[in-house]
Amino acid sequence: MYTFTNQFNSNAKNADFLKAAMMGPNAMRVAEELTTHLHINENMRILDLGCGCGLSTILLAKKYGASVFAADLWILPTENYERFQSIGIDDKAVPIFVDATKGLPFANRYFDLLITVDAYHYFGDTAEMLPALIPFVKKGGYIAVAIPGLQYEFEKNVPAEMQPFWNSEMERTLHSLDWWKDLWKRTEGIELVDSREMASCRQAWEEWLTGYHPVVADDIKMMKAEGGKYFNLIQLIAKII
Ligand SMILES: C[S@@+](CC[C@H](N)C(=O)[O-])C[C@H]1O[C@@H](n2cnc3c(N)ncnc32)[C@H](O)[C@@H]1O
Repeated sequence: MYTFTNQFNSNAKNADFLKAAMMGPNAMRVAEELTTHLHINENMRILDLGCGCGLSTILLAKKYGASVFAADLWILPTENYERFQSIGIDDKAVPIFVDATKGLPFANRYFDLLITVDAYHYFGDTAEMLPALIPFVKKGGYIAVAIPGLQYEFEKNVPAEMQPFWNSEMERTLHSLDWWKDLWKRTEGIELVDSREMASCRQAWEEWLTGYHPVVADDIKMMKAEGGKYFNLIQLIAKII
């Protein structure tokens, strides 16, 4: 399932590139699992929303030859443009600044697919966000999301070993598969065609903990406390009807 990511990572220069570009569980591996549930080809125009440093964009452009709009809030387009040039996908990937909560700067029905990896939980936890994104995807196209989540809702019972790491942002953004399914099932204009816990969870987290990002040191402690008991990765795929 992870042929592209494994091959990419087998090259020492690429592995170093990956360590520098990861912003959470290895987004290239997570995107590769998510895309095995979609039918992507080189004629498709894809919005990679919350792309960060563009690891999922690289997978979409290099593995599938798709054209990608790499949209993000925290990472500047110039930084991503230079990264895309360095990896040879600047002809396939358009870096763009977007705040998903403020509306998207695209035409209606512009994209065949809207994909978002390890980002949707930051802005998609309201009843309004999914309906706001649907118009940008063609009828018959898909919205596909992969996000970190919880094996069950903590509510007010945060496990003791997780309490030193728990904060208000985690409380707002981390939810169970059932919580997300319930939110999406209440949305009109889509059919939820797939929802599951992702197989890449453990490996993607382990790879993140080898990365160069400054928060990795704290995440190593958090993941040791977590011990595989509470976190998961959640996949949701909806067809636009
Ligand atoms: C943990 S990082 C993950 C980045 C990348 N997808 C990855 O997995 O490596 C979360 C990303 O969500 C993006 N994000 C958060 N809120 C956003 C918003 N309102 N609009 C667009 N992107 C947003 C941030 O800019 C950030 O790059």
